[in-house]
Amino acid sequence: MPATIIMGGQWGDEGKGKLTDALATKAHVVVRANGGSNAGHTVTTSQGVFKMHLVPSGVLNPDCLCVIGAGVVIDPVSLLQELDELRARGVPVDNLRISDRAHVVLPYHPEIDRLEESARADDGIGTTLRGNGPAYADKVGRHGIRVADLIDEETLLRKLTREVQIKNQILTRVHNRPALNATEIYTDLVDAGARLREHVVAAEMLVQNALHDGQEVLVECAQGAMLDVDYGTYPYVTSSSPTAAGACQGAGVAPTQVKRVIAVYKAYSTRVGSGPFPTELLDEAGSTIRERGREYGTTTGRPRRTGWFDAVAARYIARLNGVTEIALTLLDVLDVFEEIQVCTEYRLNEVRLDYLPAREDLLAQVTPVLTPITGWKQETTGARAVDDLPPGARDYISFLEREVGARVTMVGVGPDREQLVPLTEDAAILAVA
Ligand code: IMP
Repeated sequence: MPATIIMGGQWGDEGKGKLTDALATKAHVVVRANGGSNAGHTVTTSQGVFKMHLVPSGVLNPDCLCVIGAGVVIDPVSLLQELDELRARGVPVDNLRISDRAHVVLPYHPEIDRLEESARADDGIGTTLRGNGPAYADKVGRHGIRVADLIDEETLLRKLTREVQIKNQILTRVHNRPALNATEIYTDLVDAGARLREHVVAAEMLVQNALHDGQEVLVECAQGAMLDVDYGTYPYVTSSSPTAAGACQGAGVAPTQVKRVIAVYKAYSTRVGSGPFPTELLDEAGSTIRERGREYGTTTGRPRRTGWFDAVAARYIARLNGVTEIALTLLDVLDVFEEIQVCTEYRLNEVRLDYLPAREDLLAQVTPVLTPITGWKQETTGARAVDDLPPGARDYISFLEREVGARVTMVGVGPDREQLVPLTEDAAILAVA
């Protein structure tokens, strides 16, 4: 059976965790494809609110195998903490598998992340300071230590000794910081490796065998495609590829094995950290969205920047990723507005633009052309079927579908599992009991 990809269509935090949790009830395998503990996926169930960072959001479905793919960078301490917390809340984690090819975030990565951010001063990216960028830099620079190395003491000692030596040169000579102690790091890592060993597998083979056996495989991206290192708002991006192509690469799925690409978009926009954000709202409307949408970072607690739906960016992402359908989340946040705006094109020096310029200074100068839509001024949180949605809300959804060029098949009207409204018959199979 072909694979399904769930990816964020904006700047992350679109509610992918909730959707993955819902779809995982029908899946055999859920694979997390990219990112690290910079991500934060919130899932609300009858057992309460779960905030996952590294563990795939499918973990709350015990019948589903949860895989951390080769494209993820893993901070072992953070992962072990997450597993302990899940166990303490009665969630079994023996269904977790970890790719032996995934890279390890080492203690020097968050330190370098912090030092690089402070060296950038006013041009800081606003990273989550979890060490993701430096860990991916080491991966492509061929300095990385992988999970396969982590669980082999001899290899770990050899590679770590060499890397700590190199990093100590950078820390002491470039940043004027004290050197790190390789033995201490090694001792902590051996311990972490021993605890994680039982979960480690050749994940790409597991995924391929599942697909070969006709099983349903769900691939979950972290972050959002506007944070993609190639097509996002570079350099204000993350260091991996939270795209459909990146999902394939990170999970060990071939592009020809993918049937559905579900992009999750909020009914408005948010972003965390620095960088251009054409539809940003710095007024009352922006604060209303922030408070109603509880727009504060899962990982860092930072207030998120808020803005109207950016159909130029959404369309760009939908086309580049071959999006087959949209899950539109947090629609209820807009229930109180008399009028809602959607950015349908950009203007740059009187020139119309229907894509995102590569240069961040130009993107920062674009003016969004906003199309006003009449609000529905009615609560949608109780909607469970398309007919329960007010006509104004349905008109808004249809408008977005036309602008983005893909069907909206599911709409989120609140944090609970049952607040995911299927709009089409095939999406109705997702309705979670
Ligand atoms: P990094 O991934 O920590 O290097 O951060 C780079 C940029 O991506 C920053 O603007 C972060 O705020 C943003 N970012 C990273 N992870 C997430 C996420 O899960 N949600 C939203 N933004 C994120």
